[in-house]
Amino acid sequence: MYTKINQAYQYIHKIYPYPIDIAIILGSGLGPLAQEIKVEQTIPYQDIPSFPLSTVKGHEGQLTIGKIHQKTVIAMQGRFHYYEGYDMSDITLPIRVFSKLGIEKLILTNACGGIRDDLNPGDIVCISDQISLFCPSPLRGPNLDEFGPRFKDMTEIYNSQSQKLLHEIAQKQKINLKDGIYCFFQGPMFESPAEIQAIKALGGDLAGMSTVGEAIVARHCGMNTLGISLVTNKAAGLSNNELSHQEVIDTAKKAEDKLVKLIKELIKNW
Ligand code: HPA
Repeated sequence: MYTKINQAYQYIHKIYPYPIDIAIILGSGLGPLAQEIKVEQTIPYQDIPSFPLSTVKGHEGQLTIGKIHQKTVIAMQGRFHYYEGYDMSDITLPIRVFSKLGIEKLILTNACGGIRDDLNPGDIVCISDQISLFCPSPLRGPNLDEFGPRFKDMTEIYNSQSQKLLHEIAQKQKINLKDGIYCFFQGPMFESPAEIQAIKALGGDLAGMSTVGEAIVARHCGMNTLGISLVTNKAAGLSNNELSHQEVIDTAKKAEDKLVKLIKELIKNW
């Protein structure tokens, strides 16, 4: 694993040997956020040694490095999912690489289904915690001591101070920001209504197919992480609509401006 991480790290560091403040992972249909970056470098995943490739529609497959409000950011336009066939260690490789690049702050974004009654398409949610029950542990196997300890505390996967700041910014920008617990499902099929009811009973508010592994690894690396979800649909069985990836992308497009505004202000003030 160290070899893979180092290869990717060295390739990116050679192209961009300057400090980077914040890494952002852009979820389904949220790729256009990268248009807000004053671009200094773009690096296609296929050029980065040992990096996986993004195979999902709505995920572009490149790193974009540049400035937003004086801050240097690196954005993953397109992420890797378990359902694409990758191991969790490959899905979370970019997080290790970001940590090795000295990046301390991470924004994870995703599109998800709303489980809690008040969560509707278009809502933006600050992830307060997560349920990784169905997610194979990305920390399985030999511990990467260089990044963190074998048995890492997970009481604050998403940094509480940063969540507070995000809420303050949302309030100032008059953006309605809710809180919620994100639950991982392997996908690629959407959940069954019974699965959604089971997770609802366990305290899950949001259903999605990403984020959780990346957040665990970021916590292991000691990164300051925020998770921001865009609800693109009511979760399975909670509306009469048949779920589709197209609906996810269409709703994400509609809510994009709001999300871009929130994240830009966060970057400015974080
Ligand atoms: N379930 C899982 N992942 C998702 C959903 C959903 O309802 N919507 C967008 N991503």
